[in-house]
Amino acid sequence: MNSSAPISPNNDWVRPYWLPFTANKAYRADPRLMARADGHHYYTSDDRKVLDGFSGLWCCNVGHNHPKIVEAIQKQAATIDYSPSFNFGHPKIFELAARLVEQFPGSLNHAFFVNSGSEAGDTALKMAIAYHRMKGDASRTRLIGRARGYHGVGFGGISVGGMVNNRKFFGSLLPGADHMSFPYDPKAHAFTVGQPTIDVEHYMRELEDIIALHDASTIAAVMVEPFAGSGGVYVPPVGYLNRLREVTKKHGILLIVDEVITAFGRLGAENAASAYGVEPDLVTLAKGINNGSVPMGAVIVRSDIYDAFMDGTKAGVEFFHGYTYSGHPLAAAAALATQDVLQSEGVYENARKIIPIFEQAIHSLKGEPNVTDIRNIGLASGVTIARRQNPGDRATDVFKHAFANGVYVRNNGDDLAIAPILTFGEIEIEQTVEAVRAALRAVN
Ligand SMILES: Cc1ncc(COP(=O)(O)O)c(C=O)c1O
Repeated sequence: MNSSAPISPNNDWVRPYWLPFTANKAYRADPRLMARADGHHYYTSDDRKVLDGFSGLWCCNVGHNHPKIVEAIQKQAATIDYSPSFNFGHPKIFELAARLVEQFPGSLNHAFFVNSGSEAGDTALKMAIAYHRMKGDASRTRLIGRARGYHGVGFGGISVGGMVNNRKFFGSLLPGADHMSFPYDPKAHAFTVGQPTIDVEHYMRELEDIIALHDASTIAAVMVEPFAGSGGVYVPPVGYLNRLREVTKKHGILLIVDEVITAFGRLGAENAASAYGVEPDLVTLAKGINNGSVPMGAVIVRSDIYDAFMDGTKAGVEFFHGYTYSGHPLAAAAALATQDVLQSEGVYENARKIIPIFEQAIHSLKGEPNVTDIRNIGLASGVTIARRQNPGDRATDVFKHAFANGVYVRNNGDDLAIAPILTFGEIEIEQTVEAVRAALRAVN
């Protein structure tokens, strides 16, 4: 479609493109096109200015078209467009690996590059199973995830993940995956401000029961997000991740923490591992790594795991896995520029400053029509909106109303998710929350 062409009544120009995670027929009836972006805003094809209250899709943490990131991508494209990822490297990818691992605690000292959060999830799960085999523990193949978990859309990610619609269409998935319950009971904990302070041990006993059921000797890894992002912004209690680390360690089970959303500032820190003082065995990254500008993900790996592959292989390839675009030069250049911006422009400091402002603003929606729960952590919030009849029907209308009024937030089923850009000020926070309030009041 030419962006200046008149839109046909049937919007047939939409058909050739099958949109991901989208109600395509509804989209065709009412298409939304983002034509350009700048700073905190998108501009639609009819040149409406829309405040980005969702950081793209949890990824544009420093806003759009940052000049330093744009320049880095342009320069790199003119220097080396592509470098083979197998048997070769290029200077920027080594620099980036060093730059990333220094941000993680303990011996998380190695980075394996991929192109998305989904690939990072499946890569980490494969690493976990292969690691045990390298150590002579080939029976450890089971993977434990959590209800509401989202680790992307690869077969590993959906098997360990806990979102029913992402699983039910796709057959028997990976064998040997099991799930913990999510440590949040909306009936008891609705409208909790920040992290709940409920009994963590109840959930640890549940995990111990799952481990006992399968026997620890069959379990490779437990995989969780620091909070359930795409699952609706559900927030685990204080101390949960720390205790999960202790229980998994006790049983020789690897802990994979999916930081695809949380790394690079969403919690007001470089990553959740540092923020909570937890050293996972593997950490998955994507999104904010280069501000969503060029597809990129990574798995950060502890030295003992890396060493097990290096020492456990006499000669030749140590890990039979990788992608054509792993560590792509454009993505690497964008990531280095993003890391500079994050660290030199006070982005984390600003995030920490606005987190309490956002918390207060979002909880002021309590009492608005049809709001049944509000949850928040860092610069993320989930607002549950009672459905009329079908899952997500009213929340979809709230999303559309806010968008028509110049603010983009996301609805996922009955949950509205809000993820401000980390460089927002009080005014943008207020504009976002007030657009949601107006939509809640307007939508029946
Ligand atoms: C926690 C988490 N893991 C993995 C993914 C998948 O990332 P991608 O869409 O880049 O494959 C997402 C995407 O939202 C995510 O939130």
